[in-house]
Amino acid sequence: MPEYQSLYRKYRSQTFADLVGQDAASRALQGAIISSRVAHAYLFSGSRGTGKTSAARLLAKALNCTGRARDSAEPCNRCQSCVEMTAGSALDLIEIDAASNRGIDEIRDLREKVNLAPALGPYKVYIIDEAHMLTEPAFNALLKTLEEPPAHVVFVLCTTDAQKIPLTVIGRCQQFVFRRHSEEQIVGRLTHIAKTEKVQVDAAAMELIARTAQGSMRDAVGLLDQLVPLASDSISLESARSLLGIADPRVLDSLLDHVLGGEAAEALAELNRIYSSGGELRQVVRGLMEGCRDRLVAALTKHDQPTARRLSGVLDALLHLDGEVRRHAEPRFLVEATLARLAVEAGTVVEQVNAPPPGLRAASPQGGEVTSSPTTAQSVSGWSEVLEKLNRTVRAAYLDAQPEVDGSVLVLWFRYGFHHKKAQEQSAQLIPHVRAWLGDDVKIDFRSTAA
Ligand SMILES: Nc1ncnc2c1ncn2[C@@H]1O[C@H](COP(=O)(O)OP(=O)(O)O)[C@@H](O)[C@H]1O
Ligand SMILES: [Mg+2]
Ligand SMILES: [Zn+2]
Repeated sequence: MPEYQSLYRKYRSQTFADLVGQDAASRALQGAIISSRVAHAYLFSGSRGTGKTSAARLLAKALNCTGRARDSAEPCNRCQSCVEMTAGSALDLIEIDAASNRGIDEIRDLREKVNLAPALGPYKVYIIDEAHMLTEPAFNALLKTLEEPPAHVVFVLCTTDAQKIPLTVIGRCQQFVFRRHSEEQIVGRLTHIAKTEKVQVDAAAMELIARTAQGSMRDAVGLLDQLVPLASDSISLESARSLLGIADPRVLDSLLDHVLGGEAAEALAELNRIYSSGGELRQVVRGLMEGCRDRLVAALTKHDQPTARRLSGVLDALLHLDGEVRRHAEPRFLVEATLARLAVEAGTVVEQVNAPPPGLRAASPQGGEVTSSPTTAQSVSGWSEVLEKLNRTVRAAYLDAQPEVDGSVLVLWFRYGFHHKKAQEQSAQLIPHVRAWLGDDVKIDFRSTAA
């Protein structure tokens, strides 16, 4: 029986024509190959699964291919060099994974061997994957080599985080940014793969995979890979959903309704139902974020500031939860706790709207006992007017703030450190409007509920 090869390996692009998207990088590389004007160092940056490693290997292949037509950059994929490179046994293609051991030994090794002539072809190509993970000594060693690169050496640094690459290194590289794939590009590729593999996949199921993959071709192909062995005849939207653990959007919508409506018990019951029917919590959180975002956009379009403010707070909490959920093996309680908290908070807002003053908040920001806050509904509407006067980008930093007026002090409570910091940085824009509202002597106190 032939060894099972994952689709994602099997469908790695072996020609530039087979590389989806990335037109700018692809065209420039091909031009350089044809005209023999290849740089000594390249930096391929961009999000994961967009073809950086694939393009780097294509470049290596084309440079050492003996069967390549003069006027084409496409490797022949048949000569000894091409075959060895595809198989991963070529001596002239050296791949260093900076993530695994931060590259110290390899870079030291590289410094020793870089001057040796290539084994087979004219070039020796070093692909340094996750290059941003290199240690400082490794970067320094690399930089020395980049300053005087031997004529036969080409470096390709691949990274998902170009900001972490020292500028001195970036300065020596020709940089290409690899873009996330569009849903159309992903559906197109998946359709091609499904056809070649002779599996039936409904268009709606393809679209679901494309959406779930968030622009990463690797993730999309990986998801298809999970579905194929399980598909008896054809893959429907329903089976894709259940196999991928993606809940029906209508169910997610009603879960979000419960959370925003302050119905904590109903929210937890709904979450429980989704969970028992195989819903992946990561996907649930993602789905809630999408729903919340759509509602936020709708609220902003209608200039409904109070709703927009609330949704923006919820969206922030979900974003934070999304990050947390990825780091936990069993994130169920985390999701429950967050949704319950959001529902309870939403519930108090709903009550306040129905029964306004005296106290705006039922609990103190630290979540402790009930305090009688001097804030009144009036001061809250004053705050809304201040928000209205700010320009959009500045306003964004203050949407998270809960105002409290205490004599001549305006206390702004922030739930998120990021907003807390941003808001303080931009206070110069806020102060005049607050003075116009509460008088020239007013002081603003920025506080964080997280402390
Ligand atoms: N631009 C692309 N065109 C076609 N397939 C792609 C592309 N980008 C990624 N893939 C698929 O994802 C897999 C991993 O791609 P890779 O080049 O390693 O991405 P990166 O290095 O950007 O993370 C490939 O083997 C291929 O199946
Ligand atoms: Mg890669
Ligand atoms: Zn070849």
